[in-house]
Amino acid sequence: MNATRIPVDIPGRGYEVTIGGGLLGQAGPLLARFAPTGRAVVITDAAVGALYGGKVVAELERAGLRADLLDFPAGEKHKNLATYVSLMGRLLGLAPAIDRSTLIVTLGGGVAGDVGGFVAATALRGLGSVNLPTTLLADVDAAVGGKTGVDAPAGKNLIGAFHQPRAVLIDPAALATLPVAQLVNGLAECVKHAVIADESLLEFIEANAAGLLAADVELCHQLIARNVAIKAGVVAVDERESSGRRELLNFGHTIGHAVETAAGYAGVSHGQAVALGMSAACAIATGRGLLTPAAAARVAAVLAAVKLPARFDDLPGLPAAARDAAVLRELMLHDKKARAGVVRFVLPRGLGSAAVFDDVTGAEIARALEKLAG
Ligand SMILES: NC(=O)c1ccc[n+]([C@@H]2O[C@H](COP(=O)([O-])OP(=O)(O)OC[C@H]3O[C@@H](n4cnc5c(N)ncnc54)[C@H](O)[C@@H]3O)[C@@H](O)[C@H]2O)c1
Ligand SMILES: [Zn+2]
Repeated sequence: MNATRIPVDIPGRGYEVTIGGGLLGQAGPLLARFAPTGRAVVITDAAVGALYGGKVVAELERAGLRADLLDFPAGEKHKNLATYVSLMGRLLGLAPAIDRSTLIVTLGGGVAGDVGGFVAATALRGLGSVNLPTTLLADVDAAVGGKTGVDAPAGKNLIGAFHQPRAVLIDPAALATLPVAQLVNGLAECVKHAVIADESLLEFIEANAAGLLAADVELCHQLIARNVAIKAGVVAVDERESSGRRELLNFGHTIGHAVETAAGYAGVSHGQAVALGMSAACAIATGRGLLTPAAAARVAAVLAAVKLPARFDDLPGLPAAARDAAVLRELMLHDKKARAGVVRFVLPRGLGSAAVFDDVTGAEIARALEKLAG
């Protein structure tokens, strides 16, 4: 197998991301390194467990480990405290009992990674974990960077911990079974990375859109490697979102989160909402002279090439509230990332570079939303 290794250089907590087609079927020896007493517990959702759980458990056993698998029902609505409590109860009830050297292996999309990672962060005050992401979104975003947690009734991701994994193993061949809508979801985060950090990645996505949407293993391998390198570079310099660097990853998410919330998480996926948010942020940047209209048009073209919306009308199922400027603005002011009533926006400064702005006016937001509607 032709593997790519990318270091995540977080001081004192560094680790490596390995990407390779077929890696899930060869993961045993790599995982065994992080289970000194030969015990591992796989945490996955039931859908991914049915597809890949047996393979991963067999690999662990082949490497001489004792492996248990704990699963929970798939879907964001199960990323909650009830699932956490259930998993924790089953984990602590295993016989023989787990100990501090037990390795947690998270297997699945961002939901399994976030819940499984939070279990790892908190069981026995912290167990080592390795992430085996299986959605494009988790490959390029959720699996790297150490954010773990669950949703609360008051909002998404409000309960959690930073807990860096010991390693991340990515098998692009696992994307073969992923529904294309989920691939598109992950591609939104790839476009995000390209706009804030790497103009040539935008070209790569545009040139290879069809192959990427078909989950071509070699193209997805390259796409994942380039995106992991960007995410790793950001979290290495700003692990806990304190210097502003990690905040750049929020590009498209200010308006995107508002759209998702206003829609009640129906009729729009996260990636689609972020795509609308990126288009709006590009419009604001263009209005400020930070981005040329030609560059904004290029972003719109790449979004279209990977089946992401650039305007409200591209999403016929979007509820009316999710296009209502007043509703969206109110939600942005109450986002957990707004500070003291100031909405913070990541705006591109040319393609491949971005900065955080806290002086975007209501009028600028309104004009950008009009463009999405127009
Ligand atoms: N921790 C972070 O830094 C971070 C970053 C971004 C997003 N997230 C979180 O990630 C979550 C979204 O992740 P997601 O989009 O991967 O959703 P997900 O984990 O719910 O996966 C989407 C669906 O695809 C299925 N699936 C997963 N892999 C599959 C495969 N290879 N073949 C077939 N089906 C497969 C899952 O069972 C699920 O039904 C959100 O909760 C979000 O908050 C976390
Ligand atoms: Zn996102």
